[in-house]
Amino acid sequence: MSALSTNQIEAFWLPFTPNTEFKRRPRIVARAEGMYYFDQDGRRVLDAAAGLWCANAGHCRPAIVKAIQEAAATLDFAPSFQFGHPKAFEAAAKIAALAPGDLNHVFFTNSGSESTDTAVKLAVAYHRARGEGTRTRIIGRERAYHGVGMVGISAGGLVNNKKWFNALAFPADHLTTTYNRKEQAFTNGLPTWGAHLADELEKLVALHDASTIAAVIVEPMAGSTGVLPPPEGYLKRLREIATKHGILLIFDEVITGFGRLGAAFAAERFGVTPDLLTFAKGVTSGAAPMGGVLVDKKIYDQFMTGPDHAIDMFHGYTYSGHPLAAAAACATLDLYRDEGLFERAKELEGYFGDAIHSLKGKPYVADIRNIGLAAAIDLDPIDGAAGKRGFDLMKTMFFDKDVMFRVAGDTLAFSPPLIVEKTHIDEMFGKLGEALDAL
Ligand SMILES: Cc1ncc(COP(=O)(O)O)c(C=O)c1O
Repeated sequence: MSALSTNQIEAFWLPFTPNTEFKRRPRIVARAEGMYYFDQDGRRVLDAAAGLWCANAGHCRPAIVKAIQEAAATLDFAPSFQFGHPKAFEAAAKIAALAPGDLNHVFFTNSGSESTDTAVKLAVAYHRARGEGTRTRIIGRERAYHGVGMVGISAGGLVNNKKWFNALAFPADHLTTTYNRKEQAFTNGLPTWGAHLADELEKLVALHDASTIAAVIVEPMAGSTGVLPPPEGYLKRLREIATKHGILLIFDEVITGFGRLGAAFAAERFGVTPDLLTFAKGVTSGAAPMGGVLVDKKIYDQFMTGPDHAIDMFHGYTYSGHPLAAAAACATLDLYRDEGLFERAKELEGYFGDAIHSLKGKPYVADIRNIGLAAAIDLDPIDGAAGKRGFDLMKTMFFDKDVMFRVAGDTLAFSPPLIVEKTHIDEMFGKLGEALDAL
């Protein structure tokens, strides 16, 4: 495969990347199959991140590839405004069938960020349609990542994502993060400390009055910030308080959806059903961009009041339910079912968790957390150079140990495809242990 020219490398401004450093020695992957990426020279790299929490079925699975190829040759594009095409309806029905409670309707988007926008807009519009137009305030949580749209930035809780754009953000309040190292360090699974933090929603109700609050949005397990499993009982408590005050509960399941936690959705795993549930990534195993929002029947019905010629929701994207993405979603969801991949994630959870916790005591390891097939390690930062130790380790592992994972500051995150074998788990954490020992 021919090497990229300097001009080509220069032209692409990579997102969430230190570009100058990257372009000195680019980390390029050119091909993928199953659990592996391959660079331009054919070097094989174990994918311990499912790409970017996406490829839950593994890479380039033939059934998904075929579905996309056939879709491209059959129906390249069809609008979803006022028209429709079969695969989008099929995909919506398959997704809704996986969801708990009355989450019966799917509003398609193209990404997690658009899904956040959509869910919050639907929440505010729902209250207005019911005659409670004063409910506009959104409650997020510290350390949350809901994507990079202005709704995600406003409701999200990651300072670097917010501070540059604060002037454009809308007012939102934030619950305290559920993570507390002193109370929870090296927990394998759900921390037992922290359910009481859900009570902060009561405090915000007391401060602002419920009549001003539209929704509370949380990731059931905060992913991008470094895998923060919810404390036992926290989500149930949040659900109860939200219901008590007529506040809609939105679960951002962009990472936790489609088997990551050993169930179709985290909502199922934790036995807590939100009013709106966002998804993306794993819905197509990353093979085509797609996202969406699962919407509770009561919210959908609120807008289905006619008259017949009038649009019920002034929202949507040109590519909502795109034929290629919809075909990819249908094939992906069938694969998850046929191969029992969600159950597989649950079965492997113990082995995966024990494997990563075996790194406790290695140099600079400050905490390890895990649930399902998601896990993270916090490293002690280098004085005056926060993030450098994690970043350097990610590069060493990619170039010298042939393992790719995600790094966020000094936090290393692992979320392999759900087809991962025990030998892969041994390899990724074995090699990480060697790299840590060499620090
Ligand atoms: C929980 C969560 N929400 C939203 C997003 C944003 O998704 P996207 O990058 O597809 O816009 C992400 C991305 O990682 C995410 O983890």
